[in-house]
Amino acid sequence: MEKLVITGGNRLEGDIDISGAKNAALPLMCAPLLTEEPVTLTNLPRLADISTLTDLLNHLGATVTIAGGNGGALTGRSMTFDASNIADTVAPYDIVRKMRASIIVLGPLVARAGEAIVSLPGGCAIGNRPIDLHLKALEALGADIELEDGYVRASAPNGLTGGTVRFPLVSVGATENTLMAAALAKGTSVIENAAREPEITDLANCLIAMGAKIEGAGTETITVEGVDKLHGCTYAVMPDRIEAGSYAIAALMTRGNLLLKNARLGDMGAPMDVLAEAGGIITEEAGGVRVKSNGHIGGFNIVTQPFPAFPTDMQAQFMALASIADGASVITEAIFENRFMHVPELCRLGADITVTGASATIRGVKSLRGAQVMATDLRASMSLVLAGLVADGETTVNRLYHLDRGYERLEDKLRTVGAQIERVNG
Ligand code: EPZ
Repeated sequence: MEKLVITGGNRLEGDIDISGAKNAALPLMCAPLLTEEPVTLTNLPRLADISTLTDLLNHLGATVTIAGGNGGALTGRSMTFDASNIADTVAPYDIVRKMRASIIVLGPLVARAGEAIVSLPGGCAIGNRPIDLHLKALEALGADIELEDGYVRASAPNGLTGGTVRFPLVSVGATENTLMAAALAKGTSVIENAAREPEITDLANCLIAMGAKIEGAGTETITVEGVDKLHGCTYAVMPDRIEAGSYAIAALMTRGNLLLKNARLGDMGAPMDVLAEAGGIITEEAGGVRVKSNGHIGGFNIVTQPFPAFPTDMQAQFMALASIADGASVITEAIFENRFMHVPELCRLGADITVTGASATIRGVKSLRGAQVMATDLRASMSLVLAGLVADGETTVNRLYHLDRGYERLEDKLRTVGAQIERVNG
């Protein structure tokens, strides 16, 4: 099993290339199912989740080709997706169980092919992750939904019809499924209490480039006027605001100075406000976002909520920062029911954290001590890497497959700016 071995204590200084956003790339890779013309996506990150979804698209009959021409650059791969022939409408359990985001083939598939049979994703480490909102939304657009043998079957043999979808709670994935389904529905759809994450706007912009008629993406109400057909396009995946935010924390924790190349400060939102409050100096430059330390790390309070509030995907990383702050912090996880699995691992490194219900109180300590730790989910893994960068001595992070789902070339990027980190087998 691969693991990362980190020797803490180095200041990080220099440039880090921010990759295309995993959580934009995944829905964008489903959009080509809506058209028989090829769609080329550029700036795709090389991640395990991208490979898993590529396998699923191939299974459905789409051909996926890696476009050349990016000069073998280390980041920003271009791929062309051709779903002119949908050979199968079943997303099988053995693929979906690897990545629950596979559920976002449901909307485009039923809109384009009139049927989609997708394995129920099941829960994951951070929570039960139900899909009831996805199903209710598709029913509101005229799909017939049946659940049997662990699969959900959505059918609309005569196509979907525009309607009003009112989400009782904000769901990123359900908004994405509904947006793609509504693009080909007959008539107008209104999505109320829609997710407002930048990845939703990225998906809407790609759909508009394909000929969709969408207004209000990025706000809580999105209006979609269905069209008969969509056409191909070439579209660049937005930079990853969570990857950028994670490295911004590394700059502050190591009292370093990093330029996050291609990052967009406007997308990075609330986490950057908290980082500034904790002692970060954040400036926007022509090439990206620069983050350095004012020499002091102060405590802070966070409650995770849908965008534009503080994102749950940055919670674990900020807990690593809080563990060495001068003072106490309180972090409340209000989105997922089990997203504190990094706490016992951070405590193995000497952090002082107590959890009461959905809130964790972190009392900053002078220094952390290196140890063997276990990654439990994607963002928890990054939290442990961040702690290892400042812990005295050597930290070994096990179960790297979690990390490889969402961070492209992590150890290369960190080594480039001075971290002592390597990936070893054994
Ligand atoms: C997306 O997951 C992201 N994944 C997650 O990132 C992110 O944490 C999450 O949004 C919240 O921002 C991708 O974009 C691929 P939700 P998603 O539907 O769409 C409940 C990462 O680390 N809910 O917005 O699955 C759900 O249980 C991953 O990159 C229902 O109750 O999240 C949760 O409590 C982790 N019923 C809340 O809504 C539903 O039908 C928000 O979930 C759907 C969701």
